Amino acid sequence: MHDESRIENVELAGEGDYIILHQKDGGALRFHAMWLRDNALDAETRSPQNGQRLITIDDIPVETRVSAATLDGPDSLKIEFQPEKKSLTYSLNWLKRHAYDVAEEKSAGWLDPKVELWDKALNNRIPTADYETVTQDKAALAAWLGDIRRFGFAKMTGGPVKSGALLDVAALFGFVRETNYGKWFEVRAEVTPTNLAFTSAGLQAHTDNPYRDPVPTMQILYALENSATGGDSLLVDGFKAVKRLQENNPDHFDILARYNARYEYAGQADVCLQSRKPMIELEPDGELVGVRFNNRSIAPVTDVPFDKMPDYYAAYRALSEIINDPAMAVSFRLEPGDCFIVDNTRVLHARNAYSGHGSRWLQGCYPDKDGLLSTLASLENKNLEDNDA
Ligand code: FE2
Repeated sequence: MHDESRIENVELAGEGDYIILHQKDGGALRFHAMWLRDNALDAETRSPQNGQRLITIDDIPVETRVSAATLDGPDSLKIEFQPEKKSLTYSLNWLKRHAYDVAEEKSAGWLDPKVELWDKALNNRIPTADYETVTQDKAALAAWLGDIRRFGFAKMTGGPVKSGALLDVAALFGFVRETNYGKWFEVRAEVTPTNLAFTSAGLQAHTDNPYRDPVPTMQILYALENSATGGDSLLVDGFKAVKRLQENNPDHFDILARYNARYEYAGQADVCLQSRKPMIELEPDGELVGVRFNNRSIAPVTDVPFDKMPDYYAAYRALSEIINDPAMAVSFRLEPGDCFIVDNTRVLHARNAYSGHGSRWLQGCYPDKDGLLSTLASLENKNLEDNDA
């Protein structure tokens, strides 16, 4: 096999403060002695049973350096550390997979490469799985979860028409977060609704519960009855919306990411949920990781300076207009036994108003995204091992 990134030799540099792995194609990857020592995979550093680290940073001498480094086989690098006089072996492939010596220009709003932005055009290929197939076939489950990671939502069809069946869907990949709305909640027109979701009114596209910190990270909405006229579900990619906002006017993007909004819900006895978070959430390195948008539960915003408030409102309005643009939304109807799942940190959902003729009964719940990603990563790792075998 021709591998242009193959490591050809290793060089000791900076008086042992770091090593340089020289690649066949002329590239080079540097690794610090401290980083290498901390990330050793020997049985004294990492538990062979569970992979957890057995040492603390204080156990590594501050003057740690490399005194010798030699290639010891096609995938093996032997390193001698001082002053511990410790000899450790590293997999070159492992080092390449964990390389950090890579120059990347990261601007505000960059996205994980696993994320694919979408708009109305995705209507032709809505990610969908069949309930029976996914419950019996791990590869089909992995594909469905992979679609959710990529698009931030997916549909599932053909499930049982039975109250509580949404919990069986959640149990395919993780765990449900219980809230003041219960372990799951009923979405149908109520006489004295505690939330406008529990009426027949149309709802602007929104993310759920922005007044929580953290927000519910996933939501399943499962249809049990849907013979009413209207009531179709609409989804909007919040990441696509804020990227479009940024393209149109970078200042609008910046101000909604820079300043916190406020959200509140106190519509039930003994409940007063409040949060202080921006509409556009970025990691410290600028990665776009969250959108909070909900006209029903935004509270008075008080963290924007007086001079900036007109710009803030202009940006808020511009984002709302993008979200309302029909070119942004995919839409579909749920039949009894169908459901969809959304990544509530990214994708907004909406519903058209529906009439009193016929009935509409959905159930909703909030599974956690970390559990979904954990199940997906575990299925993918197993797949890699099976392919290696
Ligand atoms: Fe909602």
